[in-house]
This record gives sequence, structure tokens and C-alpha cells, in this order.
Amino acid sequence: MNQDRVESLAQFHPFTRLNKLLEGVHPGGGNTPLLLSLGEPQFQPPVFAIEAIANAKDAWSKYPPTIGTEAFRGAVQAWLGRRYGIEQGFVSTDGMILPVSGTREALFHIALSAVAQGLPKGKGKVLMGNPFYHTYAGAAVVAGGEPAFLPAGRETGFLPDPQAVPAELLRETAMVYLCSPANPQGAVADKDFWRRWLVLARRHDFIIAADECYAEIYTGAPPAGAIEAAQESGSTDNLLIFHSLSKRSSAPGMRSGFIAGDRRQVGRIAQLINYGGVAVPLPVLAASTALWSDEAHVVENRARYCQSFDLAERILSPIFGTVRPAGGFFLWLDVGDGEAATTALWREAAIKVLPGGYMSRPDAAGRNPGAPYIRVALVYEPALLEGALTRMAGVLRRLDVKRPAKPALVGG
Ligand SMILES: Cc1ncc(COP(=O)(O)O)c(C=O)c1O
Repeated sequence: MNQDRVESLAQFHPFTRLNKLLEGVHPGGGNTPLLLSLGEPQFQPPVFAIEAIANAKDAWSKYPPTIGTEAFRGAVQAWLGRRYGIEQGFVSTDGMILPVSGTREALFHIALSAVAQGLPKGKGKVLMGNPFYHTYAGAAVVAGGEPAFLPAGRETGFLPDPQAVPAELLRETAMVYLCSPANPQGAVADKDFWRRWLVLARRHDFIIAADECYAEIYTGAPPAGAIEAAQESGSTDNLLIFHSLSKRSSAPGMRSGFIAGDRRQVGRIAQLINYGGVAVPLPVLAASTALWSDEAHVVENRARYCQSFDLAERILSPIFGTVRPAGGFFLWLDVGDGEAATTALWREAAIKVLPGGYMSRPDAAGRNPGAPYIRVALVYEPALLEGALTRMAGVLRRLDVKRPAKPALVGG
């Protein structure tokens, strides 16, 4: 990795930039500071998960196998069946499902693997929507690849349009990150979106990393999964899906997720973990097995987010039009100048949010598509959010907030 690449990692990390922006700005308004900048659910995971960890205490003295336990992989396979209608034989527990220590690490690993595989064939590009979850670009750079940013704003329904990618770029592509429900925009892909990307991936020989860690948090119908489109096509070739308990079960501290799909890619990531990654500890796997097997807490979780979005809709839609995303737990608000709004919200209301421009890069015309936005994570109890959102509305009303002509958020 050359020096420029190292510098660019520090330069673009969203939270490093946020800290710098707010350096010396004091949280004001006599309010207790509230961090709505980070997508970290503030709820407790179910008690049975904590008990499962305690009950497996003898396993702390064992190195966990990278492939996890048959029970864990079986619970994931059963969940894929319930959630997406995936038939048991389609995603085998033998080599096609792997536990990971949170999906962030696995999203990083897939770039290491895909770029190493692609570069000898002249394929070093790593595609992602713009804006995007920062790990994608960091991983692409560290892997020695080159991130390529695809428009994912209002004009494309807040998702990267598979039909709009130039053929030349597709030929050089090692992999693409696709996120649904999308962070930060909250757009949800339909099955046709996944189908089209799968066709491209197979035609041009690249890998799809389908980041679906918000798949269980939605407003209307459950978001379609990339794996559904794969099943219809008869194969998981070129596809890896990424799912996490961080959002689904409000357990970000457990660092537990899984990847599934293309057998070759699952094997390569298992190998990377064997050499330099972290296998999920056995007590955490026991808790994870219990969590993937339970839906009641997920339904409860989703209902709480719905309540939060009802509040946001009531308090903020008079300023922005509808703010409710189709999925995920972020508001993506067009405030005109995301940095100015972020600073004002911290100074005047002690509410920390993330400027949208920190999650995106300038496009070919030099325009940063995220710059007019802020991202607001609704990760606290609705009762606590009500006051915060009311304060936020007060500050944003005082600012010269640009009112979008169309709704601030569009589902896919
Ligand atoms: C889009 C997206 N992908 C992946 C992750 C990583 O989640 P985890 O490593 O907790 O599974 C996050 C976390 O915020 C995220 O927002």
C-alpha cells in the first residue's frame, strides 16, 4: 500500500472527519448530548442470548473453529428458508455458510479476496454506490484495487442502476458492493435489481457483495434478498450475502454475522480468517444460534423503529416532506448544507449527526452528492427521540433549510 493510499484512508474516514468538524464546538442548549451519528442500536439484545453465552462458559477455553458449529450454520440455513424461501439444498451448511465477527470485517475480507483474484485479469475496480458505507472504499484501497463510485441519488432511486454502468468499467470490475436497505439512504432493492446485477456479474466475471445487514428493519413488505434472485437463477455463483445480528438483534457488541453464497468465495474468506482474522467465539456462536432461530424479538425491534419513524414523520415532515425510509434506521435529510446543519445541531441542541458528504465522494462534475444531506440514526428509545427530534426541527427551521421539491426519501 503506497503512502497516498494510507493518507486517503485517514482523510476520508467519516467519523475522523466528524470529530475534526466539531473540534472546539461545545454541545449547547443545556441538553444532554445525544449521538445520532452512529448506527449503533441502544437497545438490549434478548435475555436468552445473554443466558446462552453464560451457559456456554466452558467453551471460553477453546479456540473456535473458523467454520463455526453445525448448529449455527443450521440455524442460519433455516432462517434463510423462513426469511427468503430458500430451499435447504440451495445453500448448504457444508461450505456455503460461514460465521463472521461482524460483517464489517467480512466486507473488508471480500475485497482482499476479489481484488487479488481480479487483478491478474486486469480487473481491479471495486464498484459501490455513492454515497456508501465507508468500509467499502477502505477495503478496496487496502486490497490494491480502485474504488469506482456509481450514482445513487434521487435520480436513480437512491440505488446504483445496473443498466447505467459503462461496459468498459464492467470489464475491469473485480467486485461490487450493493447495500439494501441502503445505508445511508434507506432505499430498498427489489428482486429485479438483484437479478440484473447477477446477470452483469456473471457476464463480466465479478463478485457481488450484497450487504443486507438492515434486511430486518423495514416499513412495508420485507425487502427482497439477493439470494432469492440467485435461487431463481439456479446458482449462487458470483454472489455473497452479508447478514448481521448488530441491527437485527440490537447486538453490535457481540460482533456476530454470517456470509453465505458462492462456495469458492466463502472458502477464500474462511482461509483469510484462518490466517489473520477472528473466528467467532463458541459462546457467541451459541447465542447467535439462538438469535437466528427466534423471530419474536425481531418483530418487537421492528415495531420500535416503526414508532420512531412515526415520530420523525410527525415532527420533521412539515419541514422536509416525507422522511420515512423504506428500510434501515436512518433519516437522510436534504438540509442544503450537511456540514453547516451538523455544526448547528451540535452547538445549539447537543445532537450529533453525520454530514452526508462524509459518506460520499465528488462525482465527475466535482459535485459531492451527499453534501446537502445529514444522516440521522434513530437508534434510541422513541421516548428519548421525541424530544431530540423536536429540538432538531427547531434548529433546522432556523437554518435556511432547502425544502426539496420531491420527498426527502424515496424507497426503491
Ligand atoms: C451498511 C453497513 N454494512 C455493514 C455494517 C457492519 O455491521 P457489523 O460489523 O456490526 O455487522 C454496518 C454497520 O454500521 C453498516 O451500516
